[in-house]
Amino acid sequence: MASHHHSLLSFAALATTFSIILLCSFSPIGALNGGFTVDLIHRDSPNSPFYNASETHSQRVAKALRRSINRLNRFKPTSSVPPNSLQTDLISDSSGYLLNYSVGTPPVPKLAIADTGSDLIWLQCKPCIKCYNQTAPLFYPEMSTTYKTVSCTSSLCKSPYNSCSIDGTRCQYSVEYGDGSFSEGDIAVETITLGSTTGHSVTLRKTIIGCGHNNNDTVESKASTGIVGLGGGKASLVSQLHSSIGGKFSYCLVPSIYPQDNTSSKLSFGSHAVVSGFGTVSTPLEYKRSDTFYNLTLEAMSVGSKRLELSGSSGSGGSKGNIIIDSGSTLTSFPTEFYSKFESAVAEEINFERIDDPSHLLSLCYNNSDDIDVPNITAHFSGADVQLNPGFTFVSVTYGIACLAFAASEPSIFGYLAQSNLLVGYDLVEKTISFKPTDCTKL
Ligand SMILES: *[C@@H]1O[C@H](CO)[C@@H](O)[C@H](O)[C@H]1NC(C)=O
Ligand SMILES: *[C@@H]1O[C@H](CO)[C@@H](O)[C@H](O)[C@H]1NC(C)=O
Ligand SMILES: *[C@@H]1O[C@H](CO)[C@@H](O)[C@H](O)[C@H]1NC(C)=O
Ligand SMILES: *[C@@H]1O[C@H](CO)[C@@H](O)[C@H](O)[C@H]1NC(C)=O
Ligand SMILES: *[C@@H]1O[C@H](CO)[C@@H](O)[C@H](O)[C@H]1NC(C)=O
Ligand SMILES: *[C@@H]1O[C@H](CO)[C@@H](O)[C@H](O)[C@H]1NC(C)=O
Ligand SMILES: *[C@@H]1O[C@H](CO)[C@@H](O)[C@H](O)[C@H]1NC(C)=O
Ligand SMILES: *[C@@H]1O[C@H](CO)[C@@H](O)[C@H](O)[C@H]1NC(C)=O
Repeated sequence: MASHHHSLLSFAALATTFSIILLCSFSPIGALNGGFTVDLIHRDSPNSPFYNASETHSQRVAKALRRSINRLNRFKPTSSVPPNSLQTDLISDSSGYLLNYSVGTPPVPKLAIADTGSDLIWLQCKPCIKCYNQTAPLFYPEMSTTYKTVSCTSSLCKSPYNSCSIDGTRCQYSVEYGDGSFSEGDIAVETITLGSTTGHSVTLRKTIIGCGHNNNDTVESKASTGIVGLGGGKASLVSQLHSSIGGKFSYCLVPSIYPQDNTSSKLSFGSHAVVSGFGTVSTPLEYKRSDTFYNLTLEAMSVGSKRLELSGSSGSGGSKGNIIIDSGSTLTSFPTEFYSKFESAVAEEINFERIDDPSHLLSLCYNNSDDIDVPNITAHFSGADVQLNPGFTFVSVTYGIACLAFAASEPSIFGYLAQSNLLVGYDLVEKTISFKPTDCTKL
């Protein structure tokens, strides 16, 4: 694998005047000494192609929550999964944040969900056995001079999701969501280009991608155009970049579930992803090389001055790696018993009458016209107390009703609403995650 990493990176400076991409051959390490940053846009923000201006804000939020809850349900044990299907670990709820990148030579622009809860980079490809409607044109690998399928004997064809084509020539993948949506196709190596915020684009050669020729999508997630996996597994973008970015990436998510403006969120790699300075706290990352999920240890939650301990195998304090941090999940979820305690503690702090959520998505809801003083909520990770932004611990599900943006579901997930306005830095070498309170619109 190491030799592939070395050929992976070079910078392409975009000479806009001539619309020509000039390829400069820096050494990969040198080229990335400064790191790079790309924009992320929330799926429901006004500059997303999936933004539906005739939807009301609450329709948009309710849809995002429904996707999130569908996604949480995918974790429930299901006996309907055919025994031979290649089950996947994708947990994205098709909400979340979109990354604009280009694939192939000449480059074709794509939008995909940037998802720390999965690995593979995949997109729909022609010819389609089945493709769902997408706003951007489909990628046609035959038109790309840099597209190359992978043989079944290749070391790149060793993930549990890989299989071999019937004629024995091509490595294939299959990823499947618990809700019936899936993508199947060829594993390939291809050039992908990320547009960095400094005006230069970053070209990643021989990146492993999944080219999906058979894709089925569900109604609620039909806007997903593919995924750029940022998980810990071997095929993810982060792992493919590992040595050139020193195992570091970070993001700062603008809470665009409230799309007042078009400010984009940021995803950074390498030295741009160092999180430090006033207010920074760090917690150990419980992850083994090539696991998909990034797990943290959550010891307790505080609501106001009341601290609720998670009980771990060794009593209180929470067992190691008991919560997954994920950029692709809207809500934060806890096991049922702990969720109940947490919800009661929040309810105790609010002196207004609860009302029902008419969409039946969330549990603890209030009338917005009551002037609710949302209690301070703090997540106590091992070694890192993170105060959640009070503006995003509740979401407005429908006009005039706000509900606690947490759910009862296992495994526990620390979702993106709770991560709003935090700069979150992943260091896969030091195995830490750092949080720093940040106004992400100002980055
Ligand atoms: C956001 O971007 C969209 C599309 O680019 C544009 O139509 C809209 O006016 C922008 N809204 C704001 C508040 O800037
Ligand atoms: C946009 O939202 C409106 C109102 O909910 C709906 O009628 C319409 O079908 C939606 N358009 C698309 C393209 O989804
Ligand atoms: C994505 O990038 C392409 C090429 O740079 C650009 O034309 C397109 O407008 C971008 N899309 C979004 C939604 O930002
Ligand atoms: C997909 O788009 C085509 C052409 O725009 C349209 O005829 C078709 O009904 C769409 N299919 C779905 C499932 O939305
Ligand atoms: C495709 O997805 C739909 C749900 O949108 C599901 O009902 C259907 O069974 C799926 N098709 C296949 C072939 O799995
Ligand atoms: C991370 O969490 C998942 C889901 O709870 C669990 O299956 C996995 O074993 C955990 N990994 C580590 C290293 O703690
Ligand atoms: C919220 O309270 C206001 C003022 O008392 C009332 O007019 C409104 O109907 C209530 N909304 C809901 C959804 O109960
Ligand atoms: C919440 O915490 C902030 C400081 O982080 C403090 O200024 C504020 O008073 C607290 N609010 C409540 C209701 O305790």
